[in-house]
Amino acid sequence: MLGVETSCDETGVAVFDAAKGLIAHTLYSQIRMHADYGGVVPELASRDHVRKLLPLIRETLREAGMTTRDLGGVAYTAGPGLVGALLVGAACARALAWALDVPAIGVHHMEGHLLAPMLEADPPPPPYVALLVSGGHSMLIEVAGIGRYKLLGDTLDDAAGEAFDKTAKLMGLPYPGGPALAKLAESGKPGRYKFARPMTDRPGLDFSFSGLKTQVLMAYQAHADEPNAQADVARGFEDAIVETLVIKCRRALAATGDKRLVIAGGVGANRHLRAQLAQAAQRDGFRVYFPRLEFCTDNGAMIALAGALRLQAGLHDDAAIKVAPRWDLESLPAVG
Ligand code: KG4
Ligand code: ZN
Repeated sequence: MLGVETSCDETGVAVFDAAKGLIAHTLYSQIRMHADYGGVVPELASRDHVRKLLPLIRETLREAGMTTRDLGGVAYTAGPGLVGALLVGAACARALAWALDVPAIGVHHMEGHLLAPMLEADPPPPPYVALLVSGGHSMLIEVAGIGRYKLLGDTLDDAAGEAFDKTAKLMGLPYPGGPALAKLAESGKPGRYKFARPMTDRPGLDFSFSGLKTQVLMAYQAHADEPNAQADVARGFEDAIVETLVIKCRRALAATGDKRLVIAGGVGANRHLRAQLAQAAQRDGFRVYFPRLEFCTDNGAMIALAGALRLQAGLHDDAAIKVAPRWDLESLPAVG
């Protein structure tokens, strides 16, 4: 199964085999191109996918020691995402599948993230709770099986990664500021600035992170000339996000009775979040799974995997090129 991911600013391609596992994968990140604009420019993203996708497919097949004739299917991200970017991957993948006379499978990007831990040697058996924290999403989802997803909590405004990026921007860090802010926080003093843990004082599993950036900006402006203020504020902000996420994860596990937690999405790269969750897991007696960082962020491998699992179950789509910029995860057909 060839997997193609073009939903945002990363071109990802992979070859996955249901029997042998992941055979090859490549990724091209457009991040440097968008940095000049302080965020992803959709039209530029689409055009860059046009430039990079075919060379990456060739490179991935070369790495796999295969030709297109060895492919049994082509999976691509059909949504959610930027519509122009999605269309590049969808059109290319569909055309390839049609030319090779193999099935094409339109994959839900979030399903890719949810199933990414299955790329690892010791995958979590369902049911498990997944915390999906990226630039576009902050979700808690119960995974009962493939295609059996229950949305437990969602963000009411900014996603966790978006909150990192916007706050970093306010503090003058270059785009995308999330990783830079996290790095700065490492040298910050915990507790010097204490920010709210939004929506943890009431029941429920939803998130709201947009108010935090105003609190951070006010603290930063009031103390900017003090030594180490930038790092200390960054630490206070990171602690607020991390603690909020940990509280909600524990709550989700308590509510569902599940004993496994999977972390997916780019914010899953955050070292502090990883450490705090590992601690909570020990304390509460659950197990936490962190896919490799390259499978935490957008990639083609998770799309190839999800496509292979769906094809194995006899599911694939007709020849129409359809993409869905918005797509309800709970509407997916269950597998098995
Ligand atoms: O999953 P991802 O690569 O892309 C999507 O948004 O789909 O996630 C990217 C997000 C960005 O908002 C980035 O700032 C954030 O993940 N991120 C981090 C860290 N590394 C990446 N946020 C906090 N700490 C990090 N170490
Ligand atoms: Zn993603």
